[in-house]
Amino acid sequence: MSQHAFGAIILAAGKGTRMRSALPKVMHEIASQPMLGWAVGAAVEAGATHIFLVTAPGHDDVRTYADTLDVNIVHCLQAEQLGTGDAVRAVLPHSETCDRLVVMFGDTPLMRATVLQELAAHRAAVSVLGFEPDDVAAYGRIIMNDAAPIRIVEFKELDETARQITLCNGGAMGIDRSVLTELLPQLSNDNPQGEYYLPHMVALAVANNHATGLVMGLVDDTLGVDTRAGQARAERLMQQRLRRGFLLTGVAMQDPDSVFVSFDTVIGEDVVIEPHVKINTGVSIGHGAVIKAFSHLEGATLGANVQIGPFARLRPGTVVEDEARIGNFVETKKAHIGRGAKVSHLSYIGDAELGEQVNIGAGTITCNYDGYNKHLTKIGTGAFIGSNSSLIAPVEIGAGAYLGSGSTISRDVAADSLVVTRASVRETADWSIKFRAQHEKKDK
Ligand code: UD1
Ligand code: MG
Repeated sequence: MSQHAFGAIILAAGKGTRMRSALPKVMHEIASQPMLGWAVGAAVEAGATHIFLVTAPGHDDVRTYADTLDVNIVHCLQAEQLGTGDAVRAVLPHSETCDRLVVMFGDTPLMRATVLQELAAHRAAVSVLGFEPDDVAAYGRIIMNDAAPIRIVEFKELDETARQITLCNGGAMGIDRSVLTELLPQLSNDNPQGEYYLPHMVALAVANNHATGLVMGLVDDTLGVDTRAGQARAERLMQQRLRRGFLLTGVAMQDPDSVFVSFDTVIGEDVVIEPHVKINTGVSIGHGAVIKAFSHLEGATLGANVQIGPFARLRPGTVVEDEARIGNFVETKKAHIGRGAKVSHLSYIGDAELGEQVNIGAGTITCNYDGYNKHLTKIGTGAFIGSNSSLIAPVEIGAGAYLGSGSTISRDVAADSLVVTRASVRETADWSIKFRAQHEKKDK
């Protein structure tokens, strides 16, 4: 479909009481991104020239978040929450340059850009989004006359016969601004809820001889999150959508349902992700990598052909260069792991720079924190850190150096040196025979 210039109106002034949360509803996350971020993303993808965000006066954090998105947002305040029709009123003074407006909700994170485009490009002056869910629940119903909607009735105002109608109102709407300006003053709140209902635009349009139209969407497009259970459902659907995308671009998953990704996750071709992996924000994975079971990744950049896990925890600031390996029960944070380096077992590598081909033995700890500040550990190319070593930062291990197992290193080590800090070994022959004999005599 050809793109059609339009302004998107995102309604987000509702209270969201049923979330039972101090956080405004649209700030709750789906796949690690606030719902509002998904709505804005869909509007941008659909080609909206302007984005009008309707919020309530107390919602400073919603506006602050919206301004962090890489998009120009026009803020519109709805002083009191008098209904979806009233919310749209707040946009009128700001939208003179838009001929067509598409109204959408901030709490429908699965809305697809293509649906918004259809609402924008639809020829009718007022186009509504219809859908047919298995469970018609408490949705408003669209009353049709042939192919055109003539009225939308809110669930609470439906009589028994009208409740049989299965065509539901998805809430989003495409409308010519001139028609909106003409009809908004006619919108009344003469209904049991005392609210100005945006869907009443349809009946007003018909009464004023403007064409109305219907765009059909899927259930997911209109899935509104009102409760924590709804949030969990949206999360599940979004994860399915994201995983499907990765499977199509050459990512293998043995059990996709147990892999969780984020809105910004980047994964290359021929990557294998084993079951039970959680990927938080800021992760990119180069081609050919294997992420083994039960690993947890956040803020990590992984090169090509790396192997991670099982049971690895990569925290923000981790960079793993090509061919490197991070094994089981290893935690990394702000760590640069050089090409081909290996951290194979039971280690903590934080605030560290490891050169190429470094080998870190089992149980190595970078002691990076003195209770006040974090300090850097640098390990040169090809250095070998023996098992169970403690590296007390700030400290630098030269390239090719060799640390004996069990060393505690508190000063720099020159390139290619051997360092061993270890209590000397004392062996007393037959000591345990005498010891046991003494004790066994006593016991009798
Ligand atoms: C709305 C539709 C209903 C449709 C359903 C689909 C109306 C009156 N009803 O009902 O026909 O079947 O969506 O999900 O539109 N908002 C404001 N200011 C307000 C009121 C609401 O900004 O004064 C925002 C809310 O934050 C929310 C959106 O508008 O994002 C929808 O409001 P909500 O109260 O959830 O409408 P529904 O009852 O879902
Ligand atoms: Mg709703």
